Amino acid sequence: MIDPDSFRQFEHSGWQKIPQRYHQAFGELTTQSIEPLLDAAAVKRGTKVIDIATGPGYVAAAATRRGATVIGVDFSTMMIAEAKRRSPDIEFREGDAEQLPLGNDLFEAAVVNFGILHLGRPDQALAEACRVLRPGGRFGFTVWAKPEEAVGFGIVLGAIAKHGNLNVPLPEGPPFFRFSEPDECMRSLLAAGFESPKVVKVAQVWQLPSVDSLFEVMKDSTVRTAGLLRAQKPEMLEQIRLAIRDESKHYQKGDAVGLSMPAILASGTKA
Ligand SMILES: C[S@@+](CC[C@H](N)C(=O)[O-])C[C@H]1O[C@@H](n2cnc3c(N)ncnc32)[C@H](O)[C@@H]1O
Repeated sequence: MIDPDSFRQFEHSGWQKIPQRYHQAFGELTTQSIEPLLDAAAVKRGTKVIDIATGPGYVAAAATRRGATVIGVDFSTMMIAEAKRRSPDIEFREGDAEQLPLGNDLFEAAVVNFGILHLGRPDQALAEACRVLRPGGRFGFTVWAKPEEAVGFGIVLGAIAKHGNLNVPLPEGPPFFRFSEPDECMRSLLAAGFESPKVVKVAQVWQLPSVDSLFEVMKDSTVRTAGLLRAQKPEMLEQIRLAIRDESKHYQKGDAVGLSMPAILASGTKA
């Protein structure tokens, strides 16, 4: 059964430890959907924007480059420190997406890039994003497409299913791919107070340096998938590592491996 508080604690302690490694592993990937996300949220010069679950602050920095006025919020002190180090001129605040430390009707745009799938109470976070927006304000979020399309997840989850155990005891969170389903995005956006919801797919490609990289980054630079890998018995983990390595070879060009990792981009307007 989902226990949102235990799950939040698990996610929080994970993110506190990996800001640098997350940046090295995912910085080139999650930034690929930023421009479509900012377009969906109608961010332009002068727009007041909140970047929720900002992590290293990539979206906040891109919105600032468009001339927007931005606040980035994240619940991890270490992520906020990384964001401030990378963009010292942007305002970053520690705060929970499920209970934003900000008043009502303050922003014209709110964005969450690959954050919603890490929350114990995602519907509450959607409602919070709606609360801090002015009426007519735009909201957009991204998540990974399903593992059949987001190949990196497909390979890793397939290897665990075949050689390990997908049901290891970890604090249970909402389904990781819940919002990969366009209908679920639309339904959830409407329920949170947004109108005219729209969902599109954004092509992204993850370039990894070698056939060993996918296993390493998933084990060392993520939270939930890392927990799943680390909880495997050692002999199973070795089988999983080898299976991921073998599968990665199908996507190899030279030493490098290129994996299709599309994003689902959902957006709506505060009623
Ligand atoms: C996958 S990273 C996304 C970072 C960044 N938005 C990007 O584009 O790469 C997820 C981020 O969500 C943050 N996060 C997870 N749960 C949160 C919560 N309840 N409130 C605020 N931030 C949260 C984590 O600390 C982490 O920085």
